[in-house]
Amino acid sequence: MEGNYQRLEHLGEGTYATVYKGRSPKGEIVALKEIHLDPEEGAPSTAIREISLMKELDHENVVKLLDVVHTETKLMLVFEFMDKDLKRYMDANGNHGALPPQTIKLLMYQLLKGIKYCHDMRVLHRDLKPQNLLINSRNQLKLGDFGLARAVGIPVNTFSNEVVTLWYRAPDVLLGSRSYSNTIDIWSAGCIMAEMFTGRPLFAGSNNDDQLIKIFRVMGTPSEATWHGVSQLSNWKNNFPPYPPQRLEQHLPQMDPYAIDLLKKLLVYDPNLRWEAAQCLTHPYFQDLWQPAPQHSLQLPAHLHEQQMQQFHLNQQQQQYMRLQLQQQQQQQQQQLYQQQQQQQQQQHYQQGINPHQMPHQMPPHGPTYPQ
Ligand SMILES: Nc1ncnc2c1ncn2[C@@H]1O[C@H](COP(=O)(O)OP(=O)(O)O)[C@@H](O)[C@H]1O
Ligand SMILES: [Mg+2]
Repeated sequence: MEGNYQRLEHLGEGTYATVYKGRSPKGEIVALKEIHLDPEEGAPSTAIREISLMKELDHENVVKLLDVVHTETKLMLVFEFMDKDLKRYMDANGNHGALPPQTIKLLMYQLLKGIKYCHDMRVLHRDLKPQNLLINSRNQLKLGDFGLARAVGIPVNTFSNEVVTLWYRAPDVLLGSRSYSNTIDIWSAGCIMAEMFTGRPLFAGSNNDDQLIKIFRVMGTPSEATWHGVSQLSNWKNNFPPYPPQRLEQHLPQMDPYAIDLLKKLLVYDPNLRWEAAQCLTHPYFQDLWQPAPQHSLQLPAHLHEQQMQQFHLNQQQQQYMRLQLQQQQQQQQQQLYQQQQQQQQQQHYQQGINPHQMPHQMPPHGPTYPQ
């Protein structure tokens, strides 16, 4: 019992904290995130500031922080309860971790909406990864573990078995850039998207340099020509092996052309050229989600999602075909009308004794009247 919250079963062990299922004084099921503090230092003031900022975040794709309980040795954050994190969701629902394409689209859309909201609120996540994305029983995806990376700074939970992962870290951060832009979260979103398709992390480096090399092997080693200013970054080495870029379509054959196209906008080296979340949400990859009528549900089994997608593409092709046919019919009708008008005019001219062969070859439709 801590601040009248009842601790139930253990949910997860993160980089900074231990998370339990819990019950609030009102009887609601919540998640209790307990951060153990250094007894000498207590809670860093930056953490408290950051946490009060997090309390202001209110969006359907961001896990809601409901309460903060602060004791001498512990900081306990009370969050809305979520069913599982994306890593566990992939393990449970995927085919060796790989999710059905339509499920990925729905999750990516929610992920980008959550990122957009946070960036609009001037908050960077900085540690987006499947373990920090949470999914509830209604299949809503929400950004979790928000802002804590910056708030707490270094991992405080030495008992944690979760290693700080570099796999989702943007190359600008790996190369030592300190001017973090919004788009560091977008790089992570790209890595997560690819992982949902394959079930495996896209770039699984074991240390900073290895992470960079893993990225370079696929995306090509950057240069001043492809990323202006890269050689000025503190971790840049002139002797990085010069890998040529691979074709992402070949590297990720599971991804459809729209998905690959969006991925190419997310995994751009130069952080200034990488797409912002708002722009990503307008990418045609998501076009079937913009239609207001159909209610998509992640609870549909995978084969039904596929059927829905196939039906959507079929409908689109049919509509396009019908539009073309209509255009052709209209053109034919116009031509017929024009020919009929010409014939009528010719007849009139014969009746009036005018030689049509002396007439200008092409008369403008509403041009000058015939010479009498
Ligand atoms: N609101 C929640 N509901 C359910 N499970 C959660 C919730 N928040 C976190 N968890 C679980 O606990 C794990 C660690 O939580 P997280 O907030 O990421 O802590 P850390 O900052 O230590 O990484 C998550 O990966 C997830 O499995
Ligand atoms: Mg975490």
